[in-house]
Amino acid sequence: MQPVLAFDVYGTLIDTLGVTIELERRLSDASKAGEFAKRWREKQLEYSFRHSLMGAYVPFAECTREALVFTDRALQTGLSDNDRDHLMAVYAELPAFPDVVPALDRLRDAGIRCVAFSNGTEEAVNQLLTRAEVKSHMDAVVSVDAIKRFKPAPAVYAYLRTRLETRPEATWLVSSNPFDVIGATHAGLRSAWIRRHSDAPFDPWGIEPDMTVPELETLADRMMR
Ligand code: LAC
Repeated sequence: MQPVLAFDVYGTLIDTLGVTIELERRLSDASKAGEFAKRWREKQLEYSFRHSLMGAYVPFAECTREALVFTDRALQTGLSDNDRDHLMAVYAELPAFPDVVPALDRLRDAGIRCVAFSNGTEEAVNQLLTRAEVKSHMDAVVSVDAIKRFKPAPAVYAYLRTRLETRPEATWLVSSNPFDVIGATHAGLRSAWIRRHSDAPFDPWGIEPDMTVPELETLADRMMR
């Protein structure tokens, strides 16, 4: 049975480093840019978990904006409304990692279906992937927005399978985010962890990915073996 691959978007297909570069330009103390970017991302995910648990869903971009405002408060960086709007615009136009298109093309040439699977709304992900010139190399975009829950709720992985009409053992979640890999594995899917940084730790939950690779070209090699 051919596998179907569902790729996480932020950090897996799309490189969020561009945000750090823009923060270096906008913050009066540029040395805070790295910490700002890290805390912004962590808070964005925390807000998605909390909104989901509370049954108070908002679109993912709203979690991103709330997290931006919080991080600005926490680090006392005094961003103006204009700075915030600009950073949100940068977030919506980030580039893809260089391995993405070659890997997708090889996988699809081999008959393997590849979709994007994200917390972002379908509209936001379509725009992001179109600007990053990845959209035309994917078969579809699946968003959790349809069921108003965020990863790693088991329901979102079940929804993914419903949309793809696949069996669990043929459905792969491909992500650089350990929480997503663990969520998918827990929900019965196969999983590949894209360990883009060799020092990236994995959560010690006793739930391991089926495959760990440093980037997507290696994933393509392994899938076609
Ligand atoms: C996504 C986030 C979790 O794209 O990276 O779903």
